[in-house]
Amino acid sequence: MKKLLPIGLALMMAACAASDKNNETETSLAKAYEKYWYTGISVNQWETASDNNPQTKDWKVIVDNFNWVVAENCMKCEVVHPEQNRYDFTLADQFVDKALSANLKVMGHCLIWHSQCAKWFHYDSDGNLVSADTLKARMKEHITTVMQHFKGRVAAWDVCNECFEDDGAFRNSLFYQILGEDFIKLAFEYAHEADPDAELYYNDYSMNKASKVEAVANFFAPLVKNGLPLTAINMQGHIILDDGAQKIISDYEHSIETIKTVGVKTGFSELDLSVLPNPYGFSGANVSDKFAYRPEMDPYIDSLPAARQLEIDQFWIDFFKMLIKNRDEITRVNFWCLNDGNSWRNDFPIRGRKDYATLFDRDNKPKPTVAKLIELVRNKQ
Ligand code: G3I
Repeated sequence: MKKLLPIGLALMMAACAASDKNNETETSLAKAYEKYWYTGISVNQWETASDNNPQTKDWKVIVDNFNWVVAENCMKCEVVHPEQNRYDFTLADQFVDKALSANLKVMGHCLIWHSQCAKWFHYDSDGNLVSADTLKARMKEHITTVMQHFKGRVAAWDVCNECFEDDGAFRNSLFYQILGEDFIKLAFEYAHEADPDAELYYNDYSMNKASKVEAVANFFAPLVKNGLPLTAINMQGHIILDDGAQKIISDYEHSIETIKTVGVKTGFSELDLSVLPNPYGFSGANVSDKFAYRPEMDPYIDSLPAARQLEIDQFWIDFFKMLIKNRDEITRVNFWCLNDGNSWRNDFPIRGRKDYATLFDRDNKPKPTVAKLIELVRNKQ
């Protein structure tokens, strides 16, 4: 008679077989990498709308493939605080409530940013720039009101966004003109006071550039040493494939090492990969940079050549291999815009192009990239 296995061993073998089966069939990037980092995606207001907006079909793809979400626009100052004495959380609550009901965690984006900041924020009733004290009071009120509105529902915040130029200088924003560099420290202090449990991030683009990441690190290191409540530094990761894949990847690895010297972790907050020509040697995501449309800068109107897709796959495979190697420093890997159809890249830096910058195609089908990235960690953890 066949010797029966002790029941415990049999159950354990059954559980291993089941998990192996899951590994074999895993199609969710977030689930595949859940022991490495959080995997997130930005969500626009139409994807969480309650009407029959065509983009609402994106929601199931978001829930199936990610475990964090960040609002692409609906939590920004101009939307939630359109007038000095009026807040409007309609779209933001719709987004947060839908995310939480799907067991997705929420990253708040973004509290203090020179762009999409309400027009009234820096001016008095006569149209003059407000005083330093007035701006501090307005920042504190905005940050406190917004964070306390979402307290317990939003687990992390991009507190300050894009405060440095690519060469490492402070951006000459109205926040900087009125308060100098102190506005950054103040914003984090106000945020921590408003919600001591929230993770607080600094977020910026072009952080693969040594001049920028070193300036950011040199700015935050002494503040963190003195107790600034900074959880991590988010590198947006808006990448242009023609800028040179291997240099980009090695530069980002250098940046992870630079951020480590601050004593905080690294997040990737807005990853996408433009595959269109970079006509002007342009890089970064400074939304005020605009360029005229030229047909030769829009080569894939009909379709993306298979060879170009293989280049994209290889970039992400090599990028993720670098991330896995540095997994102890990385808290999150967020992508920006779910699919090629709703990606901001189609209109930036040149309006009206057809880019292929995301992980999902215009029919919400996962690109081959997703399966190849899952394969990298299949049966490993
Ligand atoms: O909602 C209005 C609509 O009412 C109006 O009819 C329309 C007219 O143009 O504009 C709509 O607002 C647009 C908004 O997106 C919402 O769709 C703005 O024009 C447009 O400029 C804005 O673009 C956003 C961009 O930030 C501007 O700040 C992009 O969607 C968004 O992806 C992008 O995201 C930023 C991150 O927040 C920070 N890091 C860089 C990243 C890319 O720029």
